[in-house]
Amino acid sequence: MPINVLGIETSCDETSAAVISDNKILSNIIANQEVHQKYGGVVPELASRAHQKNIIPVLERALVKANIDKKDLDAIAYTRGPGLLGSLLVGSSFAKSISLSLNIPLIEVNHMQAHLLVNFIDDNAVDKPCFPFLGINISGGHTQIVICKNFFEMEVIGETLDDSIGEAFDKCGKVIGLDYPAGPKIDKLAKNGDPKKFKFSIPQVKGLNFSFSGLKTNFKRFIESKILENKSFIEEEKENICSSLQQTITKILLNKIIKAIKQTKTKNIVFGGGVSANSKIRESCRKELKNYNLFFPKIEYTTDNAAMIAIVGYLKYKEKNFTGYETESKARYKI
Ligand code: KG4
Ligand code: ZN
Repeated sequence: MPINVLGIETSCDETSAAVISDNKILSNIIANQEVHQKYGGVVPELASRAHQKNIIPVLERALVKANIDKKDLDAIAYTRGPGLLGSLLVGSSFAKSISLSLNIPLIEVNHMQAHLLVNFIDDNAVDKPCFPFLGINISGGHTQIVICKNFFEMEVIGETLDDSIGEAFDKCGKVIGLDYPAGPKIDKLAKNGDPKKFKFSIPQVKGLNFSFSGLKTNFKRFIESKILENKSFIEEEKENICSSLQQTITKILLNKIIKAIKQTKTKNIVFGGGVSANSKIRESCRKELKNYNLFFPKIEYTTDNAAMIAIVGYLKYKEKNFTGYETESKARYKI
């Protein structure tokens, strides 16, 4: 009999439920919270209220789509952290009550581990990653280089000292009038732009750490000075600005990945997180790292989703790695 696990994800601004049967996803329902768009970023209080409103309909849709009765679930997995505490609490209390009422095991999941382990979902791709691998976690909240020895033994060897790579996209996007999240919009606009038209600063950070706040300041000053010369600068040059910015962010990331490969001598590189959906990052990594085995998640598994929580739930279920009801949510939760 296959093992059926329900996954629940509520760490930030997406309410999501997914059903996995062994390592195959049967459903993955995501409700995006549009309420944050006009604020230019996620408002924590609004996020937890929206999770409360969305979670039951999202769960019902996930069960219907998977064509599964809740009595056939073997376990429930949920995001313990990291994330916004109010948002995490909605998912954890919901998961705990389902676990209690159905009398099935509860499994806590680290959101950042899940962004990488989503690559183990069976989606008919030819290969799956082999351990050890280098995990490149690039999202709205994190930028991490991680050595992954096995499913649950991971060590962060590089991370951002300030803004995340996703914030670099989102905050620079805001400067040129793009709604939150600006990352996907920049990706789209950049397709018709010249990546070499404008030059932005590449930070000099030692070792495998990152810094993106200098780029954001440099970008903002550049745009402000250009507007003084020409009021329509953003409108006239939007595609070139996006393409040049994306090129700079890609270069910063790629430099560090190459350094990490040299340091760790790893052959396998596994990407995860919302920014790993970026077409330029995918294209440049495939080109520059063609002698390595690269794994990118399917686009629908890059930004926050419960399928990634469900696959970790399945992996932990096989090890009988279950969680007690006293387990607290963690806004900061190390990988
Ligand atoms: O993984 P995620 O959904 O949330 C966190 O765990 O933080 O990542 C969201 C981030 C946002 O910053 C968003 O702008 C970015 O992923 N993003 C992208 C793209 N799609 C999503 N950034 C660049 N290019 C994309 N195509
Ligand atoms: Zn995430």
